[in-house]
Amino acid sequence: MKSEKELEEIFEKKLANNEFIEPKDWMPEKYRHHLIRQISQHAHSEVVGMLPEGNWITRAPSLRAKLVLLAKVQDEGGHGLYLYSAAETLGISRDEMIEALHAGKAKYSSIFNYPTLTWADIGAIGWLVDGAAIMNQVMLQRTSYGPYSRAMIRICKEESFHQRQGYEIMMRLALGTPEQKQMAQDALNRWWYPTLMMFGPPDDQSPNTADAVKWRIKRETNDQLRQKFVNQTVPQAEFIGLKVPDPNLKWNEAKKGYDFTPPDWNEFWRVIKGDGPCNKERLAARIKAHEEGKWVREAAAAYAQKHNKEMLVS
Ligand code: 3HC
Repeated sequence: MKSEKELEEIFEKKLANNEFIEPKDWMPEKYRHHLIRQISQHAHSEVVGMLPEGNWITRAPSLRAKLVLLAKVQDEGGHGLYLYSAAETLGISRDEMIEALHAGKAKYSSIFNYPTLTWADIGAIGWLVDGAAIMNQVMLQRTSYGPYSRAMIRICKEESFHQRQGYEIMMRLALGTPEQKQMAQDALNRWWYPTLMMFGPPDDQSPNTADAVKWRIKRETNDQLRQKFVNQTVPQAEFIGLKVPDPNLKWNEAKKGYDFTPPDWNEFWRVIKGDGPCNKERLAARIKAHEEGKWVREAAAAYAQKHNKEMLVS
């Protein structure tokens, strides 16, 4: 039997060799808890993220747009499932995670506490929010925990369709009538800073980054990813004739990136503490859906039990 020190050495060696840590491997308790926190928060974000977009399925401007949005929202539900399953391999149950969300103990992404006021917001979510999510998740494809990494590979493939779906909506509006272009610009104005907040607080105010980088859960920091996102997105806005709402935005040749105004971090902390424009509405909608789906879970469990019994008898 190996001592704790030997087990820790094996764990460190795997990290150093860029090998995955798998569910049955020994891992420090702090690593396990860090992952449960992050993966469950990520899963909750996918599922809560279905709400602002789901709100527009019945009002999509064409059958094609409706079909695409329906498929996208369904994908997000699937992402939630992969992520809950990855978190379950760390020894927490789905019920415990969902209870923590409903009790307001577990977070979900700040971005989903903002309202979707027009059809252009659906474009802005796909382009900016999914674009930011991909920026973070491409890095997470190489995260150190095997099940999380594998979930991310599939999720990233689907997210890249989502990003294009959003950009297509923005492009159509931006190249449309002056009113449509204004609608797209207004959506960009409202979603820009909340999107920059998605990457998390600045590195010097981020309590979890040091451990995450040490354990190779994160391979890039919040600020590094935010900078990459700005560099990638500004030319996309320019291409369709929209203006990023930041008077200080300027290309900085020395750092080969844009200088930009940071978001209002007081607003960020307020939103993640429950005081954003839609926090109460989102949580109430999730709790209602969970309660109304109780009979489905019970029927599925009863069916599984009956089916298993029949399999054992035959
Ligand atoms: N929204 C809500 N909470 C946030 C946040 C955000 N945008 N950014 C940071 N926080 C929270 C953290 O969870 C942490 O709180 P906790 O310690 O109570 O959990 C606190 O603020 C301090 O932040 P840190 O930077 O120290 O936290 P992390 O190192 O965990 O970094 C993160 C935050 C970058 C969001 C990281 O957790 C991460 O990479 N998570 C995985 C990706 C993810 O969750 N994405 C959700 C985006 S939405 C999505 O994918 C849906 C898609 O369909 C668009």
